[in-house]
Amino acid sequence: MPTYQRMLFVCLNDRGDGHPRGSCSRSGGEELLDRLRGDLADRGLKGHVRAVGTRCLGQCAHGPVVNVQSEDVWYGGVQASDVPDLIDRHVLKGEILEHLVVPDEALIGKDHAEQPLPPVKR
Ligand code: FES
Repeated sequence: MPTYQRMLFVCLNDRGDGHPRGSCSRSGGEELLDRLRGDLADRGLKGHVRAVGTRCLGQCAHGPVVNVQSEDVWYGGVQASDVPDLIDRHVLKGEILEHLVVPDEALIGKDHAEQPLPPVKR
């Protein structure tokens, strides 16, 4: 049984001004995480769903990015204004926000899925 029903990883990486790879932090990641945490708490979801700020998640071209676990959905270009939809639809109803999804073919590292690692043994 997982500790949280869903975890949302929000990239807060900051490479500084003008870096060619960009930075999720500088494109709205900080505001996004603040809004997400606030809205999850306001909705009484704090103990069930966790929003975590991270360093680079490797999908910099699509920032700010959010990875939702356990279903491994990647959202890109997410802004604080998307948070109500993210909570109402994805977190609470399990619906994918298709307009924010980073397609598999655009994800860095997705090609490794062809060589999957063995599942963890418990
Ligand atoms: S800077 Fe956010 S994914 Fe790399």
